[in-house]
Amino acid sequence: MPDAARGRWRELVERRLPQAARPDWPVHRDHCFARILLDNTCGGPWRESVRAPAWANLSADQCAAAIGLGEAVLAGRADLDVLNRRSLALRGKLRKPESVTPPPDGLRDGDLVLRRWQAGDEAAFAALGADPEVMRHFPGLHDAAQSRADLRGFQHRFRVDGFGPWAVTLVGEGLVGLVGGARVMRVMPFPGGDRPGETVELCWRLARSAWGRGIATRAARLALGDLFGRCGVAAAVAFTAESNDPSRRVMERLGMSPDGGFAHPALPPGHPLAAHLLYRLTAASFESGRLGA
Ligand SMILES: CC(C)(COP(=O)(O)OP(=O)(O)OC[C@H]1O[C@@H](n2cnc3c(N)ncnc32)[C@H](O)[C@@H]1OP(=O)(O)O)[C@@H](O)C(=O)NCCC(=O)NCCS
Repeated sequence: MPDAARGRWRELVERRLPQAARPDWPVHRDHCFARILLDNTCGGPWRESVRAPAWANLSADQCAAAIGLGEAVLAGRADLDVLNRRSLALRGKLRKPESVTPPPDGLRDGDLVLRRWQAGDEAAFAALGADPEVMRHFPGLHDAAQSRADLRGFQHRFRVDGFGPWAVTLVGEGLVGLVGGARVMRVMPFPGGDRPGETVELCWRLARSAWGRGIATRAARLALGDLFGRCGVAAAVAFTAESNDPSRRVMERLGMSPDGGFAHPALPPGHPLAAHLLYRLTAASFESGRLGA
């Protein structure tokens, strides 16, 4: 991580946040601010993905995301109490994570089943992250360790938020990918994205053997029905690199509306994948689309 970013991080958690702390904030000490920002950035107890001390070992991108979250707290765009409870829930330290109704074991549409992740999914999921064609529109391949961390993160999301990316399976074929909603905990440069945690993003990633059969759209419809129903989410976004036509086609098939573009903050300006397109869908328009279908 560049020294300047490291300095900004330390300044934020060691001086600016403790000095700004109001009496009603749930924490006042530097290591508590660091815990909250890092757990929410990493999507789990931060030591699962970063060696201590964090200030020395965070990647440049993790550091930028954690700083963005801290700046949102200082600016009143993120509720420290909510972030603290989420961090404690990620650590299993809240006796009852406030959540919507517990997720079902699975969602089904004929031969298509969305289910919770299982220990035996590791190899098939890692194969997706290691396939250059599948990952063509991502900044890089995911090695086995990264894929294991992704799976852990999905489990944490279901436990803490009540939803997350589901394992997509087909009868007779087994696991073919992931589809589902994920709460965006990073500050994003699009309307509403400045309030971390308030936007829910739909994501999808399928093995090549499953492409071109309309599976992403069918799976996303199942996941959206659950998000807008059981989970009480009011709207969802989806975004993808401008070059990712198959992903855009899924958004259009779902009846999502284009809402402009933005430069993804995880990528350097000028990176060929930086330019992203944003789409939105409200629960009401999803429901009326379903009734009209
Ligand atoms: C994006 C993705 C999930 C779409 O899933 P899908 O179930 O194949 O979607 P569909 O069957 O509706 O096909 C979508 C479009 O992709 C096209 N497509 C399918 N296979 C393709 C291929 N091998 N190469 C190029 N286009 C292909 C389809 O023809 C369709 O276009 P059309 O609507 O003009 O006919 C899938 O392509 C994928 O996993 N891609 C890699 C991961 C990824 O990019 N995820 C999204 C990150 S935002």
